[in-house]
This record gives sequence, structure tokens and C-alpha cells, in this order.
Amino acid sequence: METIIKKIDPNNMTSDDFSEAAALLREGKLVAFPTETVYGLGGNAYDSTASARIYAAKGRPSDNPLIVHISSFEEITPLVKDIPGKARALADRFWPGPLTMILFKSDKVPKETTGGLDTVAIRMPSHPIANRLIKEAGIPIAAPSANASGRPSTTKAEHVIEDLDGRIDMIIDGGSSDIGLESTIVDLTVSPALILRPGYITIEMLREVIPDIEYDKAVLKRIKDDTIVAKAPGMKYRHYAPKGELTIYEGEIGRVSKAIREAAKEKLDAGYSVGILTSDELAESYAGLQTGCDNGSLYIRDIGSRENEEEIAAGLFDALRYFDEVKADHIYAESFVEGGLGQAIMNRLMKAAGYHIIEV
Ligand code: TXA
Ligand code: MG
Repeated sequence: METIIKKIDPNNMTSDDFSEAAALLREGKLVAFPTETVYGLGGNAYDSTASARIYAAKGRPSDNPLIVHISSFEEITPLVKDIPGKARALADRFWPGPLTMILFKSDKVPKETTGGLDTVAIRMPSHPIANRLIKEAGIPIAAPSANASGRPSTTKAEHVIEDLDGRIDMIIDGGSSDIGLESTIVDLTVSPALILRPGYITIEMLREVIPDIEYDKAVLKRIKDDTIVAKAPGMKYRHYAPKGELTIYEGEIGRVSKAIREAAKEKLDAGYSVGILTSDELAESYAGLQTGCDNGSLYIRDIGSRENEEEIAAGLFDALRYFDEVKADHIYAESFVEGGLGQAIMNRLMKAAGYHIIEV
């Protein structure tokens, strides 16, 4: 299939820009589009055939439910059994924005969209292109992250093209996603409410609205322990993983840098390609590592200051994709402070590493 690439400027868009995309969505076709978190792969949420196409395009297991995207609060009504007070309160505070809520689904939402569950995940994105696309299509849009299953989520149209060109009908190129990590997911069908996936909206922010909200225990796990099963079906799969072997080093940053230098040197000497995921504070400490070991190649990616978690979050998936592009065999990553947005950063990084963390 020929994938149409459509550039839209989020600061200067008209109804015309969306007419073809909206028509495709209404016909059950697939359109990838930018959101403030990551790019989404959209299809009509009411159409079970569209959902089946989404799973096929991503190569995703069909028991992994999709998030349904809406453009205004009223659009939630036909999707759910009822709207709990907590959902209204969270929506008032955080929608439109990077928060997804799990509620009991109505009969209108097909089980194909929810991976067979009787609950549905709903999000109202704040990105102007996402919002406008949903409005112009006039239907709720089921959209997982627009990456091939198992690969890091996509934060630019180029990433989507890499993974899905020829497999979907259209890709809207609206520039980079600001946040760079997927939405925070909150399950409101249980009491107390649970955070199933950490994101930009942190537990501290959520507790201002729902004081007793907790993390699902799978979110906090730091080891590969298959007895702790994630409540969000998607969180149980190998995820975000680069093709090379990724190891996280954790501890005082001087020791982290030293341990990464030693590990990298050993692999370079043995002829491997090595990637280092670093920060402004430590990037220079790896300079000169290549000297003297002329076998393997070294690829260093600095994703920003450790003081600026938003910058780290925004650059993380792009860096993981970069290491695939350069075919790094071994990748060494510094760890980041957990808590706040760092919770989401480390959640994604630990999954990408298959929980392979070395304490130094
Ligand atoms: O930021 C985001 O949320 C992006 C953009 C495109 O909106 N979307 C996204 O979708 O990350 P996806 O499909 O990659 O991740 C959805 C996660 C999966 O882990 C899935 O298992 C979980 O949400 N999920 C969806 N519906 C659920 C439900 N009814 N109950 C529990 N978990 C659910
Ligand atoms: Mg995903």
C-alpha cells in the first residue's frame, strides 16, 4: 500500500488540511498523527475491522487494548457505562493532556478495540493536530503508539515512516512530540484508583485530585519478575527495546561514568559497536574512549541535562532508535533519578533494558 505523507503546520492549519485524513478514518482506514506525548496510529474506535488493521500494521498481539482518543469531554458519554466523579475531576484538571483514564466501557465500543476487556482507556490529547483530526473525523479514534510492536514509541514522523511506511494509509507529519513519553494511565475501575503507567502527569499531581491513588505494583518493579503481572496488558510485553543489549548503570555519577567507560572499552577492544546514553553532566567523561581501541565503533548520545527531566524524557526514544540505526551491539545507559517525571523515564528505560541494571 502507498502511504500518503501529509505535512501540517500545527500553528497554521485549516479544515482542508484534514479532509482526506478524516475521510480515511471514517472509511475504517489508518492515519498516524502527532500527539503531545508520542505519535498515535489512529483508526475508527467503533469499527472492529479498523482495530484489526491497527494490530496487523503494528504486529501487535490483539489482546493488548487500544486507547480511545476524544476531542471534548462530552464525547466520553457514548463510550462508557457511567462517568464517575473522579473521572470528571481528573478531566477538569488534566484534559486535554497526557492522561488516560480506564473506565467501564459501553456496548458501543467493540471488544476488538479493548482487547476483549470490558473496560476502555480514554484520552483527550492537547496537541492541536490530534484534537482537530478527531473533531473533523467526527468519531472517537482508537490509537496505540505509532511504532512497530516492541520498538520504542515514535516522537517524529520520520520514526513512523521507519516503522509503518507501506503498512498504513496516511502519516500526518506535524513535527516532534513535545513530551516524548506516553501518557500516564489511571485505572478508575478499581478502588483505590491505580496508576498503570507513569507519565508526564506524576503521582504527586494526581494525588492533588485523588489523594489515595497508588501505583499498580508492576510499575514499581525493578527486576525481571514474571510473577508480578502488569494490569495494563501492554506493559507486560518486551517493549521499547533497542536491538543491541542495553544495560543501565546506577549509583553516584562519577562511579557510573567510570563503570561505563570500563565496560565500553572492553567491548570496543573486542570489536563491538558500542552506544552510550549519557547526559550533559557526564558526556565529556567518555571523550577519548575510542583512542587506542580501533576495532569497534563508539556512538555517544547526550540527551540533555540531568537537571532537566523534560529534556531527558523528550530525547529518550529518539536515542534508543539512534542506537538501532547505528547498529550498536552493546548500549550502556546512565540512570536517572526516580520520582516526578523521572519515574516515567526510568520505567521506560528499565523496560528497554529488560531490567538489566548494574549498581555501582
Ligand atoms: O500517550 C499515549 O497514551 C499514546 C498516544 C498515541 O495517545 N498512546 C499509547 O498507546 O501509548 P499504547 O497502545 O501504545 O499504550 C496503551 C497502553 C497499553 O499498555 C495497554 O495495555 C493499556 O494502555 N490499556 C489500554 N486499554 C486498557 C484497559 N482497558 N485496561 C488496562 N490497560 C489498558
Ligand atoms: Mg505503545
